[in-house]
Amino acid sequence: MKERVAAASTMELRDGRRVTIRRLSEQDRTNLQLFGMSLPTDDLLYLEDDFQSPEIITRLINAHAAENWRQIVAVLDDGTIAGYSALRRLPGWSSHVGDIRLLVGSEWRRSGLGVGLARAIVESAPDLGLSKLMVDMIAEQSSGRAIFERLGFRIEGTLIDHVRDRQGMPHNLLVMAITMR
Ligand SMILES: CC(C)(COP(=O)(O)OP(=O)(O)OC[C@H]1O[C@@H](n2cnc3c(N)ncnc32)[C@H](O)[C@@H]1OP(=O)(O)O)[C@@H](O)C(=O)NCCC(=O)NCCS
Repeated sequence: MKERVAAASTMELRDGRRVTIRRLSEQDRTNLQLFGMSLPTDDLLYLEDDFQSPEIITRLINAHAAENWRQIVAVLDDGTIAGYSALRRLPGWSSHVGDIRLLVGSEWRRSGLGVGLARAIVESAPDLGLSKLMVDMIAEQSSGRAIFERLGFRIEGTLIDHVRDRQGMPHNLLVMAITMR
């Protein structure tokens, strides 16, 4: 499959640091692993994908050029990954809908990178032919909620005790969505 090359863009964070936002590539494997290993334990309790699992990292890297998937990373000049976001087309009768994931490394938080990455992944929706986007998160993830509300997403539902964290505790799942006109 021929990989479409998307333009990279540079983003200056609120604290003056600069990152490049571009598509995930095969060369990012080691840095994506390191990114996963660096995530705070609290995040690992709540993340749907286990970013510390070598199998998950392999699955993400193998999908770097998949037709139904966009994965972007915020990287430093030396390849270190500061943030990751993905948009994946749902199958079947929801094939017009894309599901978003967003994750920023703890050293990079509160500098606007979350919003920047979220905006960039939302902008890739037309490329996948999507007319609706959704993102889900456990109810306690208030920063994720603030980011997507800022981008125009609204809560479409709450699924009660839908998620069990890695310690087996139940949490409500918020489903946020936006319809693109
Ligand atoms: C959610 C996450 C991506 C935010 O990344 P970030 O780079 O810190 O986000 P930003 O700096 O762009 O912050 C955007 C807004 O979110 C809100 N926010 C972010 N962190 C917050 C916190 N700790 N407490 C309260 N509000 C917070 C604020 O409104 C902030 O805007 P402001 O800084 O102008 O006040 C990051 O915390 C993360 O990866 N969390 C774990 C995974 C997750 O929850 N993903 C979201 C669901 S998919």
